[in-house]
Amino acid sequence: MSSCKTATSGSCSLWVKTLSHLVVLSSLCPLVSGYSVRERVHDLMSRYPLIDGHNDLALQLRIHHNNRLSQIDLHNVSKVATDIFRLQAGHVQAQMFAVYVMCGAQEKDAVRLTLEQIDVVRRMCTEYQDFELVTSAQELQNAKMRHKIACLISIEGGHSIDSSIPALRMFYQLGVRSMALTHTCNTPWAESSSKLYKVYQRHNNSLTPFGKAVVEEMNRLGMIVDLSHTSWDTAMAVLRHSKAPVIFSHSSSYSICNHSRNVPDWLLRELKKKQGLIMVNLHSNFISCKDKANISRVADHFDHIKNVIGAESIGVGGDFEGAVSFPQGLEDVSKYPALIQELLQRNWTEHDLANVLRRNFLQVFEEVERVRDNLSYNLPSEIQVPAEEVQNSCRLDLRPPDRRGLPSDQGPSSRAQQRPRGLPVLAIVVLISSLLMMD
Ligand SMILES: *[C@@H]1O[C@H](CO)[C@@H](O)[C@H](O)[C@H]1NC(C)=O
Ligand SMILES: *[C@@H]1O[C@H](CO)[C@@H](O)[C@H](O)[C@H]1NC(C)=O
Ligand SMILES: *[C@@H]1O[C@H](CO)[C@@H](O)[C@H](O)[C@H]1NC(C)=O
Ligand SMILES: *[C@@H]1O[C@H](CO)[C@@H](O)[C@H](O)[C@H]1NC(C)=O
Ligand SMILES: [Zn+2]
Repeated sequence: MSSCKTATSGSCSLWVKTLSHLVVLSSLCPLVSGYSVRERVHDLMSRYPLIDGHNDLALQLRIHHNNRLSQIDLHNVSKVATDIFRLQAGHVQAQMFAVYVMCGAQEKDAVRLTLEQIDVVRRMCTEYQDFELVTSAQELQNAKMRHKIACLISIEGGHSIDSSIPALRMFYQLGVRSMALTHTCNTPWAESSSKLYKVYQRHNNSLTPFGKAVVEEMNRLGMIVDLSHTSWDTAMAVLRHSKAPVIFSHSSSYSICNHSRNVPDWLLRELKKKQGLIMVNLHSNFISCKDKANISRVADHFDHIKNVIGAESIGVGGDFEGAVSFPQGLEDVSKYPALIQELLQRNWTEHDLANVLRRNFLQVFEEVERVRDNLSYNLPSEIQVPAEEVQNSCRLDLRPPDRRGLPSDQGPSSRAQQRPRGLPVLAIVVLISSLLMMD
């Protein structure tokens, strides 16, 4: 470790040796020599590389390339702030990649679009040797030993499961280990911090009985509950209900910038009571409440949250690719060392920073896994969302066929009622094809 304070190693001490007043200068060394602080940051981040809570690269792959990975080389991607070279330069060892689909897809093709985003993250993280798809805290650590960037998959918005607990379970099977309960739209069972969409407005009941069942199933599966984007009422209800610690994967301090996406001090204290974690978002609008911001302002969020709940409850969730403007000096994923340098210069200890960089997240992830193990005797939930709580006219109504003649109403659900007549034929086809494919 090349700390300049002792002036025993590194280029800093060499530099000092050429000058008189050795003692005085060496104690000033971290202040007068930016190089030595940078060296200290890189040394620290090599030992404790970052686990970042939120990145929307998959969304940008959809927007710019329609998910055609063959069009690009992920080592070096233009138009975005995230690629393999810059992740490596920024000492990012693990990234939660969001699989996000727009709220407009709620009760349309949200599930299919989410599957496609999972597919593109899985492809990216298996086709490139520099990445490794991980699904547990242990795998994440193992990836570090192999010098791989670990990819975690996180759903951003409960609308992605279309109010279906079986869909949630299948997403878990595909590797999803975290889900934000809402994005900018309410779901039938949880409330968003945003009032952008008018769907499912409510005055109370921020987490319905079905919403509680979703949280319970996430606890049972070992999927991290993410409260970034939920309303404070929903966050509070989840904190009361969840057996496992929860996270804000990309939110900052409301006291420093009073944006509805940020977290007020009282809620931070509730989060801490449940051993939760807030991973600070770097997006300028959440940092300074303006389009422009600087590193100093970002560090103000870290300082404030540390004062309220301590460094052991803080992480980093950059939100690159999910937002447009980032602070000067933090424009892409290669710039994280500049943030750590600012915090070191504000007297954050290496112990605190090692926690913020990765150990706090690992602790939460391990605790979520421990809760899952404790719940391993619970059966999968069979709770279904009450039909009257969802407003979906195009959902297939799975009633048995009406054998007493034509149904009285000729709406879409009556067509659905007739559909099961094809089922015996379908069953035979499925049976034959499964016999043919048994290998
Ligand atoms: C990335 O690609 C651009 C051209 O697309 C090139 O100018 C640049 O040098 C490349 N950077 C690296 C690190 O390979
Ligand atoms: C929730 O609000 C509705 C009206 O919006 C009311 O009828 C109901 O009693 C309220 N429930 C609780 C628990 O406050
Ligand atoms: C947020 O803070 C600004 C000034 O910093 C103030 O003008 C505004 O009213 C505040 N908004 C809320 C919702 O408190
Ligand atoms: C950073 O931005 C804040 C406003 O958010 C400003 O007051 C401060 O002077 C800036 N600091 C530097 C070092 O530019
Ligand atoms: Zn977001």
